[in-house]
Amino acid sequence: MSETPVTVPSLRARKRRDGSTPIVMVTAYDEPGARIVSGAGADIILVGDSVANNVLGYDDTLHVDIDVMAHHTAAVARARPRSLILGDMPWMSYHLSPDEAVRNAARLIRAGAQAVKLEGGRARLPVVEAIVKAEIPVVGHLGLTPQSVLAMGGFRVQGKSVDAAGALLDAAKALAAAGCFAFVIEGVPDVVGAKATEALDVPTIGIGAGPDCDGQVLVFHDLLGLGRTTPPKFVRQYADLGRIATEAIAAFADDVRSGSFPSDAETYHAPAGLGDALG
Ligand code: KIV
Repeated sequence: MSETPVTVPSLRARKRRDGSTPIVMVTAYDEPGARIVSGAGADIILVGDSVANNVLGYDDTLHVDIDVMAHHTAAVARARPRSLILGDMPWMSYHLSPDEAVRNAARLIRAGAQAVKLEGGRARLPVVEAIVKAEIPVVGHLGLTPQSVLAMGGFRVQGKSVDAAGALLDAAKALAAAGCFAFVIEGVPDVVGAKATEALDVPTIGIGAGPDCDGQVLVFHDLLGLGRTTPPKFVRQYADLGRIATEAIAAFADDVRSGSFPSDAETYHAPAGLGDALG
């Protein structure tokens, strides 16, 4: 596996139609997670605002702010991964003004991210332009944008009508022209994922957007069976670490209760005479 760090220019060129291999992106929120994801060869670690649901116990992503995202981005960066670190801009960190968005994007860069991601369509054009002008690479996020959960009335597949799919494609082209170097396309019919991929010269990374995108992303906890809810249809679970971890901790509990832990080999022994000297 290559040791060369993944860079923004190398990702920007990764179109499958030009013969590139698909981009692999996985979320991570801490140092061990980043070590695992980078060690497995993922191109991008997304420090997603899904830390809210997957680590902090919230029901949606609206409960994390830029301080939380910078904290987790810094933890991921301490793993010194080969994968590019993509910091997710949380809700209300880029909605008030382009200046504030640039300041918040810079927080994630200073915490260790090499690029930032933000959700939304044409309304985000001024913010994307400002962040790109500050030399910070930006990934767009279209389709089912979880920060819009209240406006969408739940986590629902988007782009199901000609108008909605057309608006998504129009926004993708405008945001690409504004400087986004890649897009996450989430929760749309496969044909919309394919059309967006065809329409753009920069890569699309799908999550519930069908097989034709230039890459795929999954959430660490979904992929490994560590989630607390039934994962959505688009998730393929590759391991059941939740069950394995519960069984391991139950075995530890049994050993403690039976007195078989710790063993002699797991115990520090005193120099000769210390026990007697202590009385
Ligand atoms: O925060 C996140 O995990 C994401 C993915 C759903 C792409 O944005």
